[in-house]
Amino acid sequence: SGVDFDMFSEYISQWNSIVIENKEPYFISEDIINSKQIEIPLQFYAGFPLIYDDKVIGIFCLADFKNKILSDSDYIVTVSSLGVNDIKQIKAGSTLLGMVKPGLHGELFTHFNSKKLTTFALGMLPRITRAQTMDVLSSQSNLAGYRAVIEGATLFGRALPLMMTAAGTIPAARVLVLGAGVAGLQAIATAKRLGAIVSAFDVRAAAKEQVQSLGATFVEVDASETGDGEGGYAKEMSDAYKAAQMQKLASVMKTQDIVITTALIPGKTAPVLITADMVKTMRTNSVIIDLASESGGNCALSEHGKMVVKHGVKINAPGNILSGIAADASQLYARNILAFLKGVSTFSDGKIMIDWSDEIVKATLLTKEGSTVHPAFKSENVVSVVDAGSVKSKAKTEEKSSPKKAKSDEQSEATDLQSSPKVKKAAVKSEKSKTEI
Ligand code: NAI
Repeated sequence: SGVDFDMFSEYISQWNSIVIENKEPYFISEDIINSKQIEIPLQFYAGFPLIYDDKVIGIFCLADFKNKILSDSDYIVTVSSLGVNDIKQIKAGSTLLGMVKPGLHGELFTHFNSKKLTTFALGMLPRITRAQTMDVLSSQSNLAGYRAVIEGATLFGRALPLMMTAAGTIPAARVLVLGAGVAGLQAIATAKRLGAIVSAFDVRAAAKEQVQSLGATFVEVDASETGDGEGGYAKEMSDAYKAAQMQKLASVMKTQDIVITTALIPGKTAPVLITADMVKTMRTNSVIIDLASESGGNCALSEHGKMVVKHGVKINAPGNILSGIAADASQLYARNILAFLKGVSTFSDGKIMIDWSDEIVKATLLTKEGSTVHPAFKSENVVSVVDAGSVKSKAKTEEKSSPKKAKSDEQSEATDLQSSPKVKKAAVKSEKSKTEI
């Protein structure tokens, strides 16, 4: 919107000679340019690593581009939720698609509705066959699991495979993966490929076979309970199970060089699986990568968005691990978005016509033209019941019972409200609607 299209097309046709002049670039896909039907501006440097590919083309310069995008666009696609200040810039009546987490970003409903926005939370896609190509959680978690091992190996600063050389033998590193869902299984596979000795643990019964099929050892907890919840996700375990699990992990942690944690329970604070005492028993210079930190963290000592060293152990809780594999994450996310739009809408005369009766739309649609419509949030006005200030101060006092929230990037203005009982209840309800294929 607001772009001189002919001038832009001229730039595009001379792609090889374009110089970025310290201004905001503009990307657009070739077929869409040719169709002259729709313009797709992206934020400064978004997708930048994709430029090496001849097919990814386009550059344009405008000052204050982000605000312009927000205020001019009819459809806005984001990765995670926008912050309040950004939402205030959005043109009234626009459509917003992204991985908004109502359990974490509940207070944003006020702002969505006051701007009469139509918002889709793509993380709430049902796990049904038709939605597989749209499944943003799977595509991004998979890459996060891979990247976590690369980060862990780099921080470890030693070799992962066994190496026998004339100058001596380097032992194989030991990698433990906690939570063997999408991210965890990819972490296991990556660590195995790098030659580490890998073990893993999960509460769901099916996870054991999956872990073993990747050649890793499954850590057995001496308890009969299994953690299978609805829709293939985990449920919260009993206190007795937690005690047995902690006892087992305490004995295993001591011998690990790298621990990758990915354990999540939909709509709840992530389970704390690594206590401060366990960290103390780990070897100096060993590494923990906590991928669950946005939801509170699996390690008691992790700080979301930070790398800290505690008791000689490097504990990294990355705020945005996917920025370390941005080109692939962007590519898969873009395909997810395209599949979503193609799957739930038709496009003609420059307009996207959404099929409001589609089950995928119903599962992901949070607000429509200024009203909260998602069944999990409709009955209670999430906005008015939430006192953000009191939740914040509560979060400070309840050190580990409420999630630590990202403060590391501009999209993290959202107040952390997962500990709000009403928001939590709503989030849990919504997660329960997920069905596994
Ligand atoms: P998730 O991100 O919610 O959780 C990650 C893992 O943490 C899960 O495997 C969970 O069992 C585990 N966990 C929870 N509490 C734990 C605890 N106390 N200790 C250890 N581990 C704990 O889950 P994710 O990765 O999004 O998906 C998990 C399930 O969804 C799997 O059954 C997977 O097969 C299924 N799935 C289905 C898809 C489809 O139908 N299209 C696509 C992707 C996944």
